[in-house]
Amino acid sequence: MSYDSSNRKLEHIEISLREDVEGPLKTWFECVHLIHNAVPELDLNDLDLSLTLFGRRLNLPLVISGMTGGASGTEGINAELAKVAESLGIGLGVGSQRAALENGSLRHTYSVVREYAPNSLVLANIGISEFIRYDISLIGKLVDMVVADALAVHLNVAQELTQPEGSHSFKGFTKKLEAVLKELPVPIVVKEVGFGISKEVAEALSDVGVKYFDVAGAGGTNWVKIEMFRAKLRNDRAKERIASELLGWGIPTAASIIEVRNSAPNSVVIASGGIRTALDVVKALRLGAELVGIALPILKAYYSGTLTTYLMGLSNSIKALMLLSGSRNVDDLRRKPIVIYDPLKEWVVQRGLKIP
Ligand SMILES: Cc1cc2nc3c(=O)[nH]c(=O)nc-3n(C[C@H](O)[C@H](O)[C@H](O)COP(=O)(O)O)c2cc1C
Repeated sequence: MSYDSSNRKLEHIEISLREDVEGPLKTWFECVHLIHNAVPELDLNDLDLSLTLFGRRLNLPLVISGMTGGASGTEGINAELAKVAESLGIGLGVGSQRAALENGSLRHTYSVVREYAPNSLVLANIGISEFIRYDISLIGKLVDMVVADALAVHLNVAQELTQPEGSHSFKGFTKKLEAVLKELPVPIVVKEVGFGISKEVAEALSDVGVKYFDVAGAGGTNWVKIEMFRAKLRNDRAKERIASELLGWGIPTAASIIEVRNSAPNSVVIASGGIRTALDVVKALRLGAELVGIALPILKAYYSGTLTTYLMGLSNSIKALMLLSGSRNVDDLRRKPIVIYDPLKEWVVQRGLKIP
């Protein structure tokens, strides 16, 4: 069993790096236009993008989305991600910790993050199927393993349905969540993995006490695509067929941020899924996200040895764009005018949403 989880993680990483695993949907950030301010009356040095979340101070509203741990070689990845998160003052998540519960010798592939990121915001991680199955004490162990500030529970239903060995039952999640929220000593972030969260889901989860959402919308890494490649490798024609039919499924990230912001106005929204440029980051913040998550480009930067350069460049570009919009901080940015084009404009109208 542990061999399976580990092996799967390595296959996911390999396929993500080797194949085109993004799209076909777009994030719809291309439908959002921020207005240039030719007279910003700001000094780049005065910009302040810092925030406090889960008791941790972040210099930038960025988080490395949970990806890895749980297989040989992944300890080194997590150590590097932790070092860069600590030095830049951004958050990081680990990948699903299921493998470490199945095989204790893999714990260090996750716990290594706290060694190198003692002051950073760290998110523990588990999938919906395991979350339904595990009892509360096991869930608590995931948090302890990385001394996490919060637990991300990822909703990977579309992936499970297309995964050759995936789960098919997702009953009982909301009830379990309600119970665990009351007992777990840290907050829970409900996180998608690339198909987005709707206003209806956000509302139902808010009703049981969820205050933190990571929308992980469509337009970036597509897990159905990744599983389609895996099914192909295994000659699993049935799963390959389902995956091919599900490729265009999901809520584009920009739409999902607006959905969740509308139905859970007091929640904290993490925007992720297809965040590829500094402009995507700034647009996500303007649409109402408090924090922005990035996965695949960070993995690629790690493998090409450009992790720090990539993140420094991104950070400098975010600041430049903030200044060009005339915003000293995210509160300022939220008050700036924007123009929304179709299809996002039409989505907002038909779904009865307000542009934040
Ligand atoms: C190789 C890889 C492994 C991932 N593993 C996990 C995981 O274990 N748990 C999780 O919540 N999300 C996982 N994700 C999903 C990301 O956290 C993120 O939600 C998704 O990739 C969308 O972001 P992106 O478009 O920036 O890649 C993984 C992503 C990648 C690329």
